[in-house]
Amino acid sequence: MTKLAVIEGDGIGREVIPAALEVLDAFGLDIEKVPLELGYARWEKTGTAMSEEDIDTIKDCDAVLFGAITTVPDPNYKSILLTIRKELDLYANVRPIKPLPGVMGVTGRSDFDFVIVRENTEGLYSGIEELHEDFSTTQRLVTRKGSERIAEYACKLAKERKNRLTIVHKSNVLKSDKLFLDVCRETASARGVESNDMLVDAMAYSLMMRPENYDVVVTTNLFGDILSDMSGALVGSLGLLPSANIGSKYAFFEPVHGSAPDIAGKGIANPLAAILCVKMLLEWMGEKRAPLIDEAISYVLQKKIVPPDLGGNSTTAEIGHAVAEYLKKLLMA
Ligand code: IPM
Ligand code: MG
Repeated sequence: MTKLAVIEGDGIGREVIPAALEVLDAFGLDIEKVPLELGYARWEKTGTAMSEEDIDTIKDCDAVLFGAITTVPDPNYKSILLTIRKELDLYANVRPIKPLPGVMGVTGRSDFDFVIVRENTEGLYSGIEELHEDFSTTQRLVTRKGSERIAEYACKLAKERKNRLTIVHKSNVLKSDKLFLDVCRETASARGVESNDMLVDAMAYSLMMRPENYDVVVTTNLFGDILSDMSGALVGSLGLLPSANIGSKYAFFEPVHGSAPDIAGKGIANPLAAILCVKMLLEWMGEKRAPLIDEAISYVLQKKIVPPDLGGNSTTAEIGHAVAEYLKKLLMA
């Protein structure tokens, strides 16, 4: 049995996660769900956004399904997301960028399918920083070990795909990226993966102009954060991008989008990113039927059961329900 911590969080997290769970339930798997209330709403009620016990509860589970959390306006607040990534040592942030049938992004094309593999524990997110009255610093720590394990992960993924790796960096300016680039190159050559590299600024442009050139893209923490949101424009909406944070023991699944307080509570949030997170969770669990989720989503989009960000007027719950119902038919067939 898999033990799954379920953290809806705040804002639209509370809407998209129930829709995603309906899809998960359609599989009828032996999964124990452990609901946890963390985040801004919890902080407003109790003064704490997350406690040590919550971390223990999460560590007692195998995986986490996470919605989104609104940043708590307390100067001592430590990002819950970053804390969990660190505590569970979730070193690989995997973000597939693949258009859905019939949904066009800003470039009007759909001939691409790549995955951003973002280093998730160090770089500019190492948390080594100081804030003073007149200056502040943030250390960008890149280690050989950290670079090696993300490079290994990316190479393994590349081998399951087109065996092509693009290493994204800014080593013309940053020494820390020189180490990252060298380690990724060495790893790719040791694993027999064809690799090339791109400076991150050139990559931002190239992804918009020629997204079809890429298969697996490996990069450091902040660059991966930025390039993945940008890639939301390629697929037509940030509401379509799922992500998996993978470690050697645990895995944590979250939509790339945030809690979107401006549209929260209206039932109009796009649940497809969260539903695609369920697909990634099932793949991580080794569930062979996970790709049926793609089929069910295609069917629902074709039936024009579409959320407002994609030009429709269906609600979050209606979309989740429609995907789950069609999935049940596919699962019975
Ligand atoms: C993401 C988010 C987070 C990040 C924030 C909320 C800390 O933007 O998952 O991409 O920067 O990693
Ligand atoms: Mg981000």
